[in-house]
Amino acid sequence: MFTYKIDDNIHLELLQQVHFDGLLNVLKRNQKDLGKWMSWIGTTCSIGDYQKFMNRMLSRNVKGLDIHSIIFYNNIIVGGICLTDIDKTNKKADAGYWLDFAYRKRGVITKVLPHMIEYAFFSLKLNRVNIVCSVVNSDSNKVPQRLGFRPEATLKEWELVNGEPHDFNIYGITKTAWEKKHTLKYSENFKYAIVKG
Ligand SMILES: CC(C)(COP(=O)(O)OP(=O)(O)OC[C@H]1O[C@@H](n2cnc3c(N)ncnc32)[C@H](O)[C@@H]1OP(=O)(O)O)[C@@H](O)C(=O)NCCC(=O)NCCS
Repeated sequence: MFTYKIDDNIHLELLQQVHFDGLLNVLKRNQKDLGKWMSWIGTTCSIGDYQKFMNRMLSRNVKGLDIHSIIFYNNIIVGGICLTDIDKTNKKADAGYWLDFAYRKRGVITKVLPHMIEYAFFSLKLNRVNIVCSVVNSDSNKVPQRLGFRPEATLKEWELVNGEPHDFNIYGITKTAWEKKHTLKYSENFKYAIVKG
């Protein structure tokens, strides 16, 4: 199984069926809060529905369309991070993330996301990563801002969140801009971890 160490406390595992029970536990515990921004979580109730979402993510991982990974903190599942809609033709993908409420404000996503981005640039050979978040989701907006993404546009009523139209900010970073701002210390390990399987 792919695991990747971020630091002494945090590691990632590529989503597997074996994570289902642990994931269900965290998602249910955070359903109300996560559901504010990720509508499907707010409205998903049955175990069968969660399994359907899981199957979709597993299938997209296998096809190389997305990479859904689980974040562990001291070996406990605390969140998820993903690259979605990996577009090898145009060399771009979107990044997404969520955390258990109890593990926020410790810098977990800010530490993990650069590894995912470097995997996108240096292993998948993509050229650009996007992050799209509702303008009123301030904690989510702060993540790309902190990592030097460029705020590129505000998309009017881009998505319905729990049935309400929300404006979304789109942030982007190109490989060239990333290389100017960040040290390149993650990619080879990440690649090795994936290849090693
Ligand atoms: C979006 C979300 C993952 C952000 O979580 P977060 O904990 O604020 O983000 P990080 O893990 O990067 O932590 C950064 C915070 O920890 C603080 N921090 C503490 N120690 C830190 C460290 N060593 N390094 C970096 N930041 C640190 C930072 O100051 C920052 O707090 P601030 O925003 O008040 O300045 C979380 O709010 C969430 O899960 N929301 C619901 C799901 C969601 O909206 N997902 C995104 C959809 S687009």
